[in-house]
Amino acid sequence: MREGENTLRAESTAAFRARKGLSEGLLERQAARESNARTYPRSIPIAVSRARGPYVWDADGRRYLDCLSGAGTLALGHNHPVVVEAIREVLDRGGPLHTLDLATPVKDRFVEELFGSLPRRFAERARIHFCGPAGADAVEAAVKLAKTATGRETVLSFSGGYHGMTHGALSLTGKLAPKEPLAGLMPGVHFLPYPYGYRCPFGVGGEDGWRVGARYVERLLDDPESGVKRPAAMVLEVVQGEGGSIPAPDGWVREMRRITRERGIPLIVDEIQTGLGRTGTVWAFERPGIEPDAVVMSKAIGGSLPLAAVVYDAALDVWEPGAHTGTFRGNQLAMAAGAATVRHVLKNRLHEHAARMGELLLERLREVQREAGCVGEVRGRGLMVGVEVVDPEAGPDPLGSRPARPDLARRVQAEALRRGLILETGGRHGAVVRLLPPLIIAEEEAEEICALFGEAVLAASRGAR
Ligand SMILES: Cc1ncc(COP(=O)(O)O)c(C=O)c1O
Repeated sequence: MREGENTLRAESTAAFRARKGLSEGLLERQAARESNARTYPRSIPIAVSRARGPYVWDADGRRYLDCLSGAGTLALGHNHPVVVEAIREVLDRGGPLHTLDLATPVKDRFVEELFGSLPRRFAERARIHFCGPAGADAVEAAVKLAKTATGRETVLSFSGGYHGMTHGALSLTGKLAPKEPLAGLMPGVHFLPYPYGYRCPFGVGGEDGWRVGARYVERLLDDPESGVKRPAAMVLEVVQGEGGSIPAPDGWVREMRRITRERGIPLIVDEIQTGLGRTGTVWAFERPGIEPDAVVMSKAIGGSLPLAAVVYDAALDVWEPGAHTGTFRGNQLAMAAGAATVRHVLKNRLHEHAARMGELLLERLREVQREAGCVGEVRGRGLMVGVEVVDPEAGPDPLGSRPARPDLARRVQAEALRRGLILETGGRHGAVVRLLPPLIIAEEEAEEICALFGEAVLAASRGAR
């Protein structure tokens, strides 16, 4: 029995909250009852009870600027009026809420809006498959589709990539900690170096670094003794999210497209975090101007509610009816909220706004970098921004990068939270502080985020000395 369990059983929720203060009470009760695998409440110990736009309020009424945004889900922030209205409309007219994958007018509207957001040539040839409502299930579906269509079994993925926590998706994920206790993950996954300039896998950096990486991939695929069987697919993020907000150079993405196309290898682009405007274009693959064979999407497309899909070239559509099923593939409220979100992003060109706000954040955070020795790199694209926290005392390696300081990154996160700013950490060793504000943030809010961030970095550095 865990500590405190007896007390929790004996006492009513109301009495417990009154004794503890609302937030603290909720946190303690939920920590005692929830799984040890829970994550965010450990580093963001607040109980969220109300939310609007880029703000949330805890159960004690304290306001926070939310740069976690449901891990990049909330394109329009919390409870945007167009989202609330779309949900209300389905409820008020008695529309069905659960429909498996049956035809509905709401689904039709959603697909129409979603295809309208994709580049025309891709959309004209596209098919959509609705998946179980998590990004990881869309990744599973895309890999099964590519394996079925090619008859091959191996898959190429990238170091630092994040594709989810189900067995197949986790196999494609770089992070080792959640894989280590598990035997028997999906076999046949080969990891390739991602163009992470600050810690270049080849120790080269810059354009030379990513060009070496592209050459390596090409040579590997053509080497009859590489040990890598002809792959069913390559899976990549155009901007790595959980891997530490690392944008891939456009030229490298184009090289991956050329190399896979010339060899008949389907390219699956994971847009689960980047999709729908976050990186400054509606879809991240539009910036390098490539056409993927399949795109996996979730998060923002559900307009705050759970929804996931894979959209792919009809030439791959050779799997059998029932090849990837699931009970919850027709969430009508999510489709209504998603359609409203897609429409609102496009109508208001929020991707362009995200690009402008992202530039502002990078500029201001680089000012913080100049003041604080513990900021190794500030990088990002659009509103997917990362600050890599390093040891200011340690000497730089030949490329100028210093050792990661995850403890200091966590301290920055904690100091920011004390000041009313919610941030995420991720990246290698968990030393990248990540900012994923909603696309609707105003300039003043972006300035406030940076001011609070700057204070948090200075406070954390003082405490670390
Ligand atoms: C790029 C990417 N792929 C896949 C996933 C997994 O999505 P989910 O957590 O909904 O399963 C995530 C989640 O953060 C992600 O960022």
